[in-house]
Amino acid sequence: MTTDPFAWTQSLNTLFAQVWNKLSRGVHDRHAPARHPTLATVDAGGAPQARTVVLRAADKAASSLRVYTDAQSHKVAELRATPAAALHVWDSAAHLQIRLATSVAIRTGKDVSDIWDKMPDHARLAYGSAPAPGMPVPEALGYRKTPDPHAFAVLDLTIDSMDVVHLGPDHRRAAFRRDDGWAGHWLAP
Ligand SMILES: Cc1cc2nc3c(=O)[nH]c(=O)nc-3n(C[C@H](O)[C@H](O)[C@H](O)COP(=O)(O)O)c2cc1C
Repeated sequence: MTTDPFAWTQSLNTLFAQVWNKLSRGVHDRHAPARHPTLATVDAGGAPQARTVVLRAADKAASSLRVYTDAQSHKVAELRATPAAALHVWDSAAHLQIRLATSVAIRTGKDVSDIWDKMPDHARLAYGSAPAPGMPVPEALGYRKTPDPHAFAVLDLTIDSMDVVHLGPDHRRAAFRRDDGWAGHWLAP
């Protein structure tokens, strides 16, 4: 007898558990699809802005995720104005799309100095540049990277809802919401 590798798609509970397995794997395995989700924000003109980030933490009990970024980046300015972000993961081997609606808290300075203090020098280089990220430079390499603890920001994403699609022989789609305790319900795909 062969076992169905996608048996986890058949109930809301197992589908939800698999989403968290995938998110957790993204934090711990640099080759996992959820290692590099797409984070989408809304800019001052109301336009969507999407970019790749690294998933740094996933806490199922709190339904929260964590991303590191440069405090001077456009996304931080966008999140200060509109503290909401969507996170997207496509796991092709699992045929699974995960879309998360989140509320974002920006943490900087003393609040994140414990993380900064433990970070190796090469990783710190990602935080602090002149001019700031996204500013024009006279030539491709016309900028300096100087690790700066004031440029280090942690984005704490609290998940409000999830939209999960599995494209197997049958297509399944489910919605999960914090305000109903993540019970979930099926949707037409
Ligand atoms: C594989 C990959 C991983 C990235 N990881 C991060 C990250 O963890 N944090 C981050 O701020 N930018 C990361 N970036 C860069 C962003 O995609 C983006 O270019 C940058 O943050 C500027 O975005 P913004 O101008 O919208 O703020 C990554 C880019 C790639 C290609």
